[in-house]
Amino acid sequence: TSNEMWGGRFASGPDAIMEEINASIDFDKRLYREDIAGSKAHAEMLGRQGIITVEDAQKIVEGLSQIEAEIEAGTFTFSRQLEDIHMNVEARLAELIGPAAGRLHTARSRNDQVALDFRMHVRGAFEALEQKLGEFIEALLDKAEAHAETVMPGFTHLQVAQPVTYGHHCLAYVEMAVRDRSRCRDALKRLDECPLGAAALAGTGFAIDRHMTAKALGFATPTRNSLDTVSDRDFALEFLSVAAICATHLSRLAEEIVIWSTPQFGFVKLSDAFSTGSSIMPQKRNPDAAELVRAKPGRINGALISLLTVMKGLPLTYSKDMQEDKEQVFDAIDSLALALAAATGMIRDLEVNVDAMRKAAGHGYSTATDLADYLVRELGLPFREAHHVTGRAVSLAESSGLGLEDLPLDVLKSLDSRIGEGVYSVLGVDASVRSRTSFGGTAPDNVRSQVSDWRQCLTVG
Ligand code: ARG
Repeated sequence: TSNEMWGGRFASGPDAIMEEINASIDFDKRLYREDIAGSKAHAEMLGRQGIITVEDAQKIVEGLSQIEAEIEAGTFTFSRQLEDIHMNVEARLAELIGPAAGRLHTARSRNDQVALDFRMHVRGAFEALEQKLGEFIEALLDKAEAHAETVMPGFTHLQVAQPVTYGHHCLAYVEMAVRDRSRCRDALKRLDECPLGAAALAGTGFAIDRHMTAKALGFATPTRNSLDTVSDRDFALEFLSVAAICATHLSRLAEEIVIWSTPQFGFVKLSDAFSTGSSIMPQKRNPDAAELVRAKPGRINGALISLLTVMKGLPLTYSKDMQEDKEQVFDAIDSLALALAAATGMIRDLEVNVDAMRKAAGHGYSTATDLADYLVRELGLPFREAHHVTGRAVSLAESSGLGLEDLPLDVLKSLDSRIGEGVYSVLGVDASVRSRTSFGGTAPDNVRSQVSDWRQCLTVG
C-alpha cells in the first residue's frame, strides 16, 4: 500500500528494509511532549492569523491534548509505518478529529518541526544539567567546609608533591562544575531562538507570526535564516561538547575515588550504598559506581565525535543524515545525568579517613619546598641554591630512613651552619598548609572563605 502522507505521488509502499532504515519512531517518540507543544503553538497561531479557522485550531489543540494523555497512559500505538513521532501524532489526530487534522501542517514542514522538537529537548537537558550541577556543587561545598583543615598529600605525577587540604581539593572540583554550569548558560543563550516557521527550508508564503510561536514556546525570538534553521544542529553539538567536558571532570573525580579507596591509599571509604561486593571474594568492596562514572566519557565523547562526523560535509539544507542526530544525544543526556547523580551521591556519602590522609601527607618529603622557602626567607639564599641544599637534606634523610622533620639539628647544620631550631616549625604538614595563604592557595582560612563566597554567589545566582 502507498503512504498515507505522500500517497499522491507514490504507487507502492516501501520495501521492508527501507522502512527499517528510515523509521525513527523507536527513538524519536521521546520527543512527543515537545512535538505536541510545538503543534499546539503552531495551530493556535494559524487560527489567530486566520490561516485556519479558530474552530479547527481549537479541535486540533484538544485532539493533541488527548494524544499526549494517551502517550502518557501508555495506550498510544506507535507505528513504524508512520516513520516518526511527527507523523504518528498527526495520523492519530486525523483519527480523533477528522479532516481538520490535515490543516495542522499548513505553513510547516517536518524539517522545522524536528529542529524545534530537538532544540526544545536539548534545552530541557541543559536546564536539568544546570540544576543537577548545582546539587553536585552543594555536596562538594559541604565536604570542603567539613575538611577545610584536613591535610592530605597534594600530587603531581601522582607522586606526593606538597601537603594540601582536602577541602581545597574539593573546591578544585567546584571550580570545574561552576565552569560546566556557565557553559550550559552560555549555550542556552544561543539556543534561545525558535526554528518553527522556517518550514521546509525557504520560509512560507502564509502570513504566519513567528514571534507569537517563539514566545509561546519560551524562546526569545525566531531564528533569522530559514536555510540555516533547518540545517543547524549546533545546539546539540554544544550540548555534547559541554557534556564531554563535564563527564571528563566527573571521570577524574571518579578515578581519584577508585584509587583513594584502595587499601593501599585508604583515604576514603565509599558508602555501602555506592559499593558492590564480589561474588567470590568475601572481603571485597568494589567501587563500581565510581568506575562507571570514570567510563562514561567513552559514550559521551563517542556521541560528540559521531554527530560532528554526521554533520561535516553535509550540504545545506536538510538531509536525512540528520536523523542520526538523536539517539546518541539521548544516550549522552541520560549517561551524563546518571554519572552526575552518582558522583553527587558518592561525594555526599564519602567517609574521609583524616588520619590516613594526614599520615600520607608527611610521606615523600612533602615539606621539602617549605624547607627551601625557609632557607630563602631566613638565610637569604637564592631559591636555586636553597633548592640544592634542600635536595641534600632529602637525600640524607632518605639514606637514614628518616623524615625531614626527624633529621637532628646538627645534621641540618652540616648543610648550612645558620640553620636554627626554627626550621622544625616549617617542616610539619600543618604548618605547611597554614602557610599557603596566597590568593587561591590551600590554607584552611582560604578554604573557609572560598566556601562562604561560593555559597553566597550560588544563592544569588
Ligand atoms: N524523522 C526526521 C528526522 O528525525 C524528521 C524530519 C524529516 N524530514 C524530511 N524531510 N524527511 O530528521
